[in-house]
Amino acid sequence: MALLEVRDVTKKFGELVANDRVSFTVDAGTIVGLIGPNGAGKTTLFNCVSGLYPVTAGRIFFDGAEVTGLPSYRIARMGAVRTFQVVRPLKDMTVFDNVLVGAFLHGAGGAQAREAAESCIELCGLAEYADKSAGGLPIGGKKRLELARALATRPKLLMLDEVMAGLTSTEVKAALELIRHIREKGITLLIVEHVMEAIMPIADKVVVLDGGIKIAEGPPDRIIDDERVISAYLGAKFSRRLQAKREERTNA
Ligand SMILES: Nc1ncnc2c1ncn2[C@@H]1O[C@H](COP(=O)(O)OP(=O)(O)OP(=O)(O)O)[C@@H](O)[C@H]1O
Ligand SMILES: [Mg+2]
Repeated sequence: MALLEVRDVTKKFGELVANDRVSFTVDAGTIVGLIGPNGAGKTTLFNCVSGLYPVTAGRIFFDGAEVTGLPSYRIARMGAVRTFQVVRPLKDMTVFDNVLVGAFLHGAGGAQAREAAESCIELCGLAEYADKSAGGLPIGGKKRLELARALATRPKLLMLDEVMAGLTSTEVKAALELIRHIREKGITLLIVEHVMEAIMPIADKVVVLDGGIKIAEGPPDRIIDDERVISAYLGAKFSRRLQAKREERTNA
């Protein structure tokens, strides 16, 4: 059974249809990439799944239960947790306390929460910043803090909204390692990302949105050959580059 099912979800803002009858599933233990051009409706879909926005129509199921219309804290407590594209740490608090807030989600107090926060900080490479104020972190650090805070909630499904945007190529490599590690811990991932070289090699499946509509869904190897995806998003040149990388991988 799928861990997450998005069924015919439509989200309108007045006349604008940001998500138009979008359906897909995310199986437990997999990494699913959600891609598409700017304004395709990716963040909106995250906002609907995480309960931040009510859907206009359609239904959402998580871990065997319908979550359509539930408030976001309840969806988070059930285990579907997301990061924000525009990172917004509690600036005046330390990095440690920011992550501790995540660890408190299930109401576990004291030592247990502190331990969880510590291990997530360590995992996300933030140990040296733990006692510093979150507002002073560079952008890469803020992205990792978002991740650490989300991880500290012990999610079943982690939804990442462009955690690799603005990172250097070394930082992207580190982020990919971290994502692989997170999956090995049994956490399912739904990842919005524009960095195709990053998402394509790790995704089990890719869902492509364009203008609010799902235009393709399938394994990355098929997505990079898909004419509709190439013309809407990847572009011919870039698609050939990804195809060449795939050849390299298969020949290796
Ligand atoms: N709160 C809102 N009110 C009105 N319109 C919105 C709102 N949020 C998003 N939109 C519109 O919905 C459409 C989809 O936006 P969304 O942010 O979901 O795109 P995206 O795929 O995440 O894009 P990007 O890759 O640039 O982050 C856009 O036209 C956007 O302007
Ligand atoms: Mg977005």
